[in-house]
Amino acid sequence: MALRHFNTIEDFSKKEIEEFFNEAAKLKAALKNGEVLTALAGKTIGLLFHKPSLRTRVSFEAGIVKLGGKSIFMESDYATFGVREPLKDHAKVISRYVDGIVIRTFGHEKYMEFVKHSDVPVINGLTDYNHPCQGVTDLFTAKEHFKTLEGHKLTFIGDGNNVSRTLAIICTKLGVEFALGHPKGYGFSEEFLGKFTAAERNLIQVTESPQEAAEGCSIFYSDVFTSMGQEEEKEKRLKLFEGYQVNRELVEVGRDDAIILHCLPAHRGEEITADVIDGPSSLIYEQAENRMHTQNAIMKILMSS
Ligand code: CP
Ligand code: NVA
Repeated sequence: MALRHFNTIEDFSKKEIEEFFNEAAKLKAALKNGEVLTALAGKTIGLLFHKPSLRTRVSFEAGIVKLGGKSIFMESDYATFGVREPLKDHAKVISRYVDGIVIRTFGHEKYMEFVKHSDVPVINGLTDYNHPCQGVTDLFTAKEHFKTLEGHKLTFIGDGNNVSRTLAIICTKLGVEFALGHPKGYGFSEEFLGKFTAAERNLIQVTESPQEAAEGCSIFYSDVFTSMGQEEEKEKRLKLFEGYQVNRELVEVGRDDAIILHCLPAHRGEEITADVIDGPSSLIYEQAENRMHTQNAIMKILMSS
């Protein structure tokens, strides 16, 4: 199979995203059935992480084991980009040892530079630009719940960040309406919005009013006010993002059957209230579990042959 990476949802068609969903559903059912899976038998997957992680690290490592493979977790001195040696040498050498690589890092350009030199498939486990494993999981979770994505609207309350950018891309590819309710000055850049076709752009609503964004919403979504790497802005963001919260009052603006998603980690009382995230419409733990199943599908499709 030709070498293919999982860098951003932009690179995948609706049909390919649906193949990830179908494979994820099959693998999830097989694991629940107690079947022994072998898609990664004899394979070693390296994980290079420059940022903290609970879900991404553990879901990949557990998923690799469940598919019959082995993982090597690398951080600190083993993982730094361009400090001990050029990025090219790092990518070329590690490609000789492992069959696939998962990277969580800061700058997307550095990530792409590594990918350019890698001779094995690379999966993006989050960069400052995007979080594609999360996006596939989120829409898979919504589809699993509603059975179809037709006629749905996902509302993200927060800033134009790695997670909301990913969701805007995957939603519009799948024909799902997407709304961003963001604090002034924290929306999407014109450059980012320029990436969408006219038809996709028609599905995107960008507003500073969370209530407007919530109208007709069937999937509420929130993320932390301060992403990893922005820690020095924490106090400023806490003030500026006040009111940009998924709470009971906002959820009542949406559809009666609306679900609540959050990529986690969550800060109850900041971007979302405890009663909403812990309420009956919340699917956060199913969503977190699905990270493993969708990533298993991505690894099986890109790394198993
Ligand atoms: N949602 C997510 O990517 O979680 P971690 O940062 O814990 O990996
Ligand atoms: N936007 C968050 C997502 C964490 C999963 C961050 O980048 O820290």
